[in-house]
Amino acid sequence: MASAGRPPLKILLVGSAGVGKSSLMNRFVHNRFCSRYRATIGADFFTKVTELEGQRVTVQLWDTAGAERCQSLGMALYQGSHCCVLVFDVTVAASFQAVAARQAEPPNPKLFPFVLLGNKTDLPGRQVSAQEAEEWCAQTQAQYFETSAKDGTGVALAFQSALQAALRQQ
Ligand code: GTP
Repeated sequence: MASAGRPPLKILLVGSAGVGKSSLMNRFVHNRFCSRYRATIGADFFTKVTELEGQRVTVQLWDTAGAERCQSLGMALYQGSHCCVLVFDVTVAASFQAVAARQAEPPNPKLFPFVLLGNKTDLPGRQVSAQEAEEWCAQTQAQYFETSAKDGTGVALAFQSALQAALRQQ
């Protein structure tokens, strides 16, 4: 499918290992879920052509590796991207703390849009409340969404918001 003659919107997914970045991308791009875990090495990207605010846009979604040893790639990937999707697992408190710590990484966070996703809401044993995440967002000007890559809850809405933020940034 041909896209409009504008450069692709580049969206980066960031978060600790295993929080569900690849799964969210797979849900958004292919509407599929796989319960098997395959760690991302370095970074992967997918392209999707979609309709946004009456325009056809090409989106490049970058899935970064959560593993500590791969995080040195982080800064290079921020270059040229239009929005960052920060992902944590609502059942793992440390994954929320890790995301909050990474927020300072881009050169100018005030000018660089973020969207925060609390994923795996389908699971029991929640450790991070929606209120806690929303309070963090209120300080950082990011929007918060609750998602489940497994059952699809909230995924379309969260990516739509990220795309809109990216479009405004382009
Ligand atoms: P890295 O590549 O290591 O950074 O991991 P990742 O953040 O890409 O996580 P990934 O998508 O590979 O998911 C890790 C595991 O969690 C897999 O077994 C997924 O099936 C599972 N998973 C991801 N999202 C969800 C979800 O919303 N609900 C449930 N129950 N499991 C999920």
